[in-house]
Amino acid sequence: MRRIIQFLFITIFTFNTYALRAGEGMWLPQLLKLLNESEMKSMGMKISAEDIYSVNKGSLKDAIVHFGGGCTSEVISGNGLLLTNHHCGYGQIQAHSTVENNLLKDGFWATSYKDELPNPGLTATFIDYIDDVTADALQGVTENMSATERQSRIDKNLAMVRSKYKIESYQNLMIRPFFDGNQYFAFVTTTFTDVRLVGTPPESIGKYGSDTDNWVWPRHTGDFSLFRIYADKNNKPADYNPNNVPYTPKHFLPISLDGVEEGDFTMVFGFPGRTNQYLPAAAISQITDVLNPAKIAIRETALNITDKYMRKDEATKIKYASKYASIANYWKKWVGESLGLKKSNAVQKKLDYEKEFQHRLPINSPYKTLLNDMGQLYAQITPLALANDYYSEVVLRNVDLTNYMASLKRLVAAYKNNGVSGYNDLLPRIKSMTLNFFKNYDHNIDEEKLEALIEMYVSNLDTKFVPPFLQKEHFGLQTHESMSYVVKNWYSKTQFNNVASAMTILEKDPDSAVASIQNDDLFKVIADWSDFNASNVSAHYNAIQKDIDLLQAKYTKAQMEVFKEKRFYPDANSTMRVTYGQVKGYIPRDAVYYEPVTYLDGVIEKYVPGDYEFDLSPRMLELYKAKDYGQYTDKTGKLPVCFLGSNHTTGGNSGSPAIDAHGNLIGLNFDRVWEGTMSDINYDADICRNIMVDARFILWTIDKYAQAGHLIKEMKLVHPKKRFKDTPGKVKK
Ligand code: ARG
Ligand code: GLU
Repeated sequence: MRRIIQFLFITIFTFNTYALRAGEGMWLPQLLKLLNESEMKSMGMKISAEDIYSVNKGSLKDAIVHFGGGCTSEVISGNGLLLTNHHCGYGQIQAHSTVENNLLKDGFWATSYKDELPNPGLTATFIDYIDDVTADALQGVTENMSATERQSRIDKNLAMVRSKYKIESYQNLMIRPFFDGNQYFAFVTTTFTDVRLVGTPPESIGKYGSDTDNWVWPRHTGDFSLFRIYADKNNKPADYNPNNVPYTPKHFLPISLDGVEEGDFTMVFGFPGRTNQYLPAAAISQITDVLNPAKIAIRETALNITDKYMRKDEATKIKYASKYASIANYWKKWVGESLGLKKSNAVQKKLDYEKEFQHRLPINSPYKTLLNDMGQLYAQITPLALANDYYSEVVLRNVDLTNYMASLKRLVAAYKNNGVSGYNDLLPRIKSMTLNFFKNYDHNIDEEKLEALIEMYVSNLDTKFVPPFLQKEHFGLQTHESMSYVVKNWYSKTQFNNVASAMTILEKDPDSAVASIQNDDLFKVIADWSDFNASNVSAHYNAIQKDIDLLQAKYTKAQMEVFKEKRFYPDANSTMRVTYGQVKGYIPRDAVYYEPVTYLDGVIEKYVPGDYEFDLSPRMLELYKAKDYGQYTDKTGKLPVCFLGSNHTTGGNSGSPAIDAHGNLIGLNFDRVWEGTMSDINYDADICRNIMVDARFILWTIDKYAQAGHLIKEMKLVHPKKRFKDTPGKVKK
């Protein structure tokens, strides 16, 4: 009897709590056949795993492109036309904008190939094929190796693996660990470097709702832009050259005009950046109680200062638009993530899970003390992690000139370590960085930020992590006095306060240039700060983190052994993944149900004339009034704008295609809902949703709004529902 009860308890418990819920998981495309195909078909998918990923024939994966290393994009025509988010192309769109010719504000549509705008530095990467190299990578690695021994063994093994690969001159080989180092896959890739801007809607569409609506549903943003890949005459990668020609892809995505309804199968294919699904409770408390609150406060301070200046002046607004959006984005995400983790009792859930883990371990398991050991390491590392985050948020992320100085420090180091030739190797990159840096830089904003953030640094960190030369006493100031004078002094004296004087120094001969840099007071402060942080914080932090990583590798492996009923998927690591789910609304809180589709009517509802986030152009208002929607409406005759799905996505999935049951594009992923931003750490199928722009809104914007019908002509528009008489799947609310 007890046995039976125990059995029932375990089955009920496991099926409810630990079994994967539809929607969860970021799967490797080459393993879909083995792990997911039957489930995908039962959810409504009509194509096969082989249609998604194949090494032998063109498949969906050949249309999926890593965009600029941080976003996803997809090929949507036979002429290399690339679709991605507006916020993914933002830096490029901004770079082509001036007050007189403001692409951000007015949009841009090239009318022929020759009008398409080149973007130095922008890359587009295809995955040619993927191999499992685990056996070779972990050859000779044993359970009782120390972190260092294990790593050096793996490094040697990987060098061996690399040497065996024969790749073409235009290909790259990338080997990545999965499941915290329990598996290794090799990716052979091809990267194109001539990627031109083809079209973008104005911000009043592409960034409608801006920061207020960011991470929030209901959403009304047409977050898309168009680029094109150019190749040499052999269709191979080549640096920008006016003679390059549009790339001919192995596959491109047809676009469905039939859209989706609640319950329809959806799949999102792209390059999710980073998730942490298998952490212990101790790590989650560290995030919610210590690291997120600190990072949120730092960014809030910096954002408020920047915002004040941006509102005063149009040119400043353009200069800082991209930087501001990117700082604000994660600031807001962390706020939502912390709320979600708390509300869903993520820490308690993990503690319960750990109890069950511990309970299931065999008496003599080598993993018995694992969680306890990890807990102790987390206790040790937390103050160091806080100091490390403070350093990188303040010096490297939120204040620009300090970050620039950190790059100059690399130049000085190259000189010291490798002499004039080392210096000369790095110099061209530093010069071009300098030219770009000062385009979007305002000395006053930066100074004010550094001043405010040093105050926070000194008051919120343990003194042993704060360089003595940042303390007021060092300057003979009273504790209540501000560092304002000191920081002003650094900023007014530095030679790196404008592009001309910075370039003058970099034009000097190496010896004199290095001497000038090292004589700069602000440089000295930042260089010393960096050294101080390296020896007093990072060194200790890294040593503990190495041990944590080793234990995490074991813990992840142990979880897979212990929870046999659970289907495991590897954490995101910027490699290509497939996630699938359904079009689905959700209940964010008591008595509220969110419908999964928004319409143009909702865009108009949010309209606030003159507002910087919710203004609309007269053209948009006219088209709405005329109900000029063409072939882009849904069954109700309305124009859909965005929709929700239960696909498990994260940062990096921006620009990923949403694909229907037949392999056609139906939307463009660009965000997640506020209540579900915790999904990187604690996925909850009830409330974690991804947000996509409806493909029909994209087409409508190009066709009707921008009158760029020539671009629609090069795409392939299809009607799968009419053709296959599809019926939508069932939804459980
Ligand atoms: N939250 C989305 C993502 O993580 C969109 C960010 C861009 N939009 C914005 N308003 N900042 O990237
Ligand atoms: N906007 C995100 C990105 O840039 C995608 C949204 C998310 O984090 O899920 O990749």
